[in-house]
Amino acid sequence: MIKKIYNFDKFIDRSNSDSLKWNKYNKNIIPLWIADSDFSCPPCILKALKERINHGILGYGIISKNLSNIIIERLWKNYKWKINPEWIIYISGVVSGLNLTIRAFTTNKNSVIIPIPIYPPFIYATNLAQRSKIYTKLIQINNRFIIDCNYLNKHIYGNEKLIMLCNPHNPVGTSYKYYELEKILEFVKKYNLIVCSDEIHCDLILEKGIQHIPFASLNNDAEQCSITLMSPSKSFNISGLNFAIAIIPNKKLRDTFNLFKQGISPNIDILSCIAAESAWKNGNDWLKKQIKYLKINRDLLFYAINKLPYISMLKPEATYLGWINCSKMNILNPALYFEKYGIGLSSGKDFGDANFIRFNFACTHDILKKALKRIEHAINQL
Ligand SMILES: Cc1ncc(COP(=O)(O)O)c(C=O)c1O
Repeated sequence: MIKKIYNFDKFIDRSNSDSLKWNKYNKNIIPLWIADSDFSCPPCILKALKERINHGILGYGIISKNLSNIIIERLWKNYKWKINPEWIIYISGVVSGLNLTIRAFTTNKNSVIIPIPIYPPFIYATNLAQRSKIYTKLIQINNRFIIDCNYLNKHIYGNEKLIMLCNPHNPVGTSYKYYELEKILEFVKKYNLIVCSDEIHCDLILEKGIQHIPFASLNNDAEQCSITLMSPSKSFNISGLNFAIAIIPNKKLRDTFNLFKQGISPNIDILSCIAAESAWKNGNDWLKKQIKYLKINRDLLFYAINKLPYISMLKPEATYLGWINCSKMNILNPALYFEKYGIGLSSGKDFGDANFIRFNFACTHDILKKALKRIEHAINQL
């Protein structure tokens, strides 16, 4: 058998490719902000897309049976979660799914529970729908940030309808354990809530011995109250193709979601379906190699940051994002400070904690090392 080699070290200049990530700053700043990796996506995806383009006609599409079978097989193989094909709803992005869920399942009389810090569109989606929010701050236990169910149980007002989960959790990198999800389910059942679980980072588990557990896979109760959002976009670097799925086992919830989607969420994007099918069917070998590469980056980042004064971080179990505590820097806007030294990071303020910055380490080892030197220099100037 031919050994497949993927070159994650290869730098691909993205500044002239209309890349959002690479056009935010001037060329003297290394962009390590938005969750978009710098690796060429798996060759199998590029091949499948080229073949489809060569057909020459790009008219309206339907979902191929292959795609739903691949999703069903993948969820069974990876998580022992058995789903039915009709539970899958195709959407044009996980953020669309967050917005649709909030609008479909709450009214302006309801509150949405949001653990923070969190990926900002969770907050924006609630604002856009004009729903009130109940924030619950993640707590740090045994070097992990987790949801504090004790706090939640004490801060319920009665109008809550929906709890938003992010598993693995962007930006803190927690992959929730079985008993943690069970605790959340207990809380959800007690107050008769719906759960929206964004699992876009589920393939990106970096820590040995950890296994992603879809919230809905816990048991029938979890299935019946949940909307699970998944996508190959982060794991295979195809975010620009806007493909995601919502898995909704409960028929009533599914019908409501579909009703809100009608006429607003666009029809199937035929190229994104080809990419998703190829990623989930043939991209596993590439994914494994990418995880190996990301692990090296995570460890480099973790040790370099914790060696420096004023800043620190926990080791993310999943995702390619580092959540760096800058509170000891005593600076109002740490992201802006680092920008002056040539590193473009996400400000923690948007995620719900202004003392932090988020560092996207899905870049080549060379770029990471260069960025870490700049961080060290910036800290030395304090
Ligand atoms: C937790 C989470 N959800 C959703 C998204 C974006 O999903 P999409 O591009 O499919 O809307 C991201 C991107 O960074 C993310 O980290």
